[in-house]
Amino acid sequence: MLITNIKVLVGIHPKEKLVLHGSEMINLPVLENAWLLLENGLIKDFGSMNSIPSHISTLISKISAQGKFVIPAWCDSHTHLVFAASREEEFVMKVEGKSYEEIATAGGGILNSADKLALATEDSLFESSCLRVRDMINQGTGALEIKSGYGLTVESELKMLRVIKRLKSAFPIPIKATLLAAHAYPRAYKNNHKDYINLIVNEMLPLVAKEKLADYIDVFCERGFFSVEETDQILSAAAQYGLKPKIHANQLSVSGGVQIGIKHGAISVDHLEETDTDVLESLANSSTIATLLPSCSFFLNIPFANARGLMNNNIAIALASDYNPGSTPSGNMNFVVSLACIKLKMMPEEAINAATLNGAAAMELSTEVGSIAIGKRANLFITREMPSLAYLPYSFGQLQVETVILNGEIYHG
Ligand code: NIG
Ligand code: FE
Repeated sequence: MLITNIKVLVGIHPKEKLVLHGSEMINLPVLENAWLLLENGLIKDFGSMNSIPSHISTLISKISAQGKFVIPAWCDSHTHLVFAASREEEFVMKVEGKSYEEIATAGGGILNSADKLALATEDSLFESSCLRVRDMINQGTGALEIKSGYGLTVESELKMLRVIKRLKSAFPIPIKATLLAAHAYPRAYKNNHKDYINLIVNEMLPLVAKEKLADYIDVFCERGFFSVEETDQILSAAAQYGLKPKIHANQLSVSGGVQIGIKHGAISVDHLEETDTDVLESLANSSTIATLLPSCSFFLNIPFANARGLMNNNIAIALASDYNPGSTPSGNMNFVVSLACIKLKMMPEEAINAATLNGAAAMELSTEVGSIAIGKRANLFITREMPSLAYLPYSFGQLQVETVILNGEIYHG
């Protein structure tokens, strides 16, 4: 397939560029008036329309992208999109002024989702998750991470991970699975944390490893959820099965999650609505990516992360949706990118890099996706006609994604 007359081809980073730190994030290389050739699912070549080779311009399968932008598909590195039911009754409680913690204490929150998931069949979870993934792809997402964490029993955590495994083969995009059994303490273990951790360590981890159901380990390291010591224990056990951490840290408080994640070589530490100078220093001296989830802050009305502080400390930022029924009932990465500009004060170039190449890096997929480079997977989207790149985040809430291409083929999901 040949795409011609592209107004602007975006994200043509050198192939060896696998992650962008701090001040590098403003650099989003583009080519104006471009062509792009896709072959065997990969990016074969690209160049300027002024010097298009004649053997290429005679190809039959052509799309004209006159007035349009071609952008690497979004790489959404943090979602909880397998769930049994929405939770809009909690949304109404939030409107009434209840906090996330108050709702959780009142029996809502993660345990509410776990109750509902326990009753759902694997097939029904798979079907509802397919609808969500399809919507996300149509909104431009071309790589995904999905967590368990609404199971909280051996049986239900495995059920969730098996659903994710089926999603991996049902969709033409790379999907990574993360075990988040340490998302909340089930009611029966409320006063017996030790036994739930033993359940994770001695029962879940060996089974998950045996069936190869997870790529990563996650813990909700937070006041009222898992302490630093408990997180340390779980991450140590997971390391024995080769599971690297991508963890929830500093969502509601400065929890110590960032530092314990870094100690265990976390690929990313996610949320970071709360930070202090020690967090910035620890991240600056590590290769761990800071994954920010501005649509969660938006929905919960909690502080937005200090993106500029992170970038000033040369830290790599990824942007992700956090799609889940409690704190972010949306997988729309276009909105995430808009919010990153509006609320995190990220420049459009920084936000787009964070939602593409750095998102890919936060899933260890940046050799494969996240930028337009020869030999990478052809996962990208063509926008509607737009006056400029900044128009994409500026026109928030309006879908500028017109055509999604996965593995070199138009997606008709
Ligand atoms: O990332 N913080 C923990 N987990 C989710 C919310 C889960 C829920 O409320 O169901 C999050 O925001
Ligand atoms: Fe999350």
